[in-house]
Amino acid sequence: MISKKMEAALNKQINAELYSAYLYLSMSSFFHSVNLAGFASWMRIQALEEMTHAEKFSEYLIERGGRVLLQSIDGPPTKWASPLAVFDEVYAHEQKVTALINKLMDLAIKENDHASRGMLQWFVDEQVEEEASADGIVRKLKLVGESGNGLFMMDRELSQRVFTNPGT
Ligand code: FEO
Repeated sequence: MISKKMEAALNKQINAELYSAYLYLSMSSFFHSVNLAGFASWMRIQALEEMTHAEKFSEYLIERGGRVLLQSIDGPPTKWASPLAVFDEVYAHEQKVTALINKLMDLAIKENDHASRGMLQWFVDEQVEEEASADGIVRKLKLVGESGNGLFMMDRELSQRVFTNPGT
């Protein structure tokens, strides 16, 4: 049986993952509005990944005898100054999520909750990838600058991303 404290912390994290999905869906919609369908598609897949993260936490919580309590999700921003501004925010957001996962891991260590430590290690590794992919796109966008051609090429490249459930 999971501790009440860990149960509450995991419920909070489920909300944070759902907020991430909401934020990325909003970014996807923004990209459609500026005719960057490849960026929009990449971001929609990112949102789907966040849903799988929320699901992974939920399944774990249920398996440990906990109860999933869904909270209201904050409204995300809807406008950005440029594609670079969007990805700067993605990178900053993922760094925040990494800090949340690290705090959960700290709690699992403090409580001697080995099962939660094992589950959270997957997220620690996943966050390395999440940060690297956002940072990689930020760097490319900086290289491309204001170039319409460059953005067009990147849009084509990002449109190639396909959804794979990272948890399987
Ligand atoms: Fe669920 Fe992007 O971390």
